[in-house]
Amino acid sequence: MASAEIAELFRRVTLGLYVVGAADGERRDAFTAAWLTQVSFDPLLLALSVNPQNASHRLLHAGGGFTVSVLEETQQEVARHFGLSSGRDRDKLAGIAWRPGRRGAPVLRDALAWFECELAGAMPAGDHELVLGRVVDGGLLLPGARPLTYAATGDMDGSSALYPARLSA
Ligand SMILES: Cc1cc2nc3c(=O)[nH]c(=O)nc-3n(C[C@H](O)[C@H](O)[C@H](O)COP(=O)(O)O)c2cc1C
Repeated sequence: MASAEIAELFRRVTLGLYVVGAADGERRDAFTAAWLTQVSFDPLLLALSVNPQNASHRLLHAGGGFTVSVLEETQQEVARHFGLSSGRDRDKLAGIAWRPGRRGAPVLRDALAWFECELAGAMPAGDHELVLGRVVDGGLLLPGARPLTYAATGDMDGSSALYPARLSA
């Protein structure tokens, strides 16, 4: 199975599309994420897989929490925008309607819904880090809207070049 086929296979694992926000004091950032899921009812926990190379990764740990803005189906461009890396000269939040969450992390005002999480644990997960967030707040902003899915974003994240060349035992 070639890597493009493996990527196609993994698009059948149904995922949503989120903008994850983090802040450390006045420094804040947000990035597009698909690898997020609920993993516990009580306590309410979300698991998020973060690439440690993301600029937001350091902020997330320093700030002790993160926000999640759930994208709706027409927000492909928002997903693309926050999928870009925040460089020294690029503030991805400039020109975007957002508000600070409890710890200052950005919540998108145009999102379908949002969650606020406190960092509850982290462990290495291959080339990513699995972060647990205890949900301490949240809200539904667009009750009738449908969520954007990862499958609908095609190869926006360039993942077909990231999967291994073949599956091995
Ligand atoms: C559709 C899509 C899904 C993505 N999913 C994730 C993800 O689940 N976890 C992650 O760490 N990065 C994910 N990324 C990549 C980050 O959004 C990207 O590396 C971003 O530039 C990081 O921003 P930052 O450096 O400002 O933190 C995804 C990107 C796209 C476009």
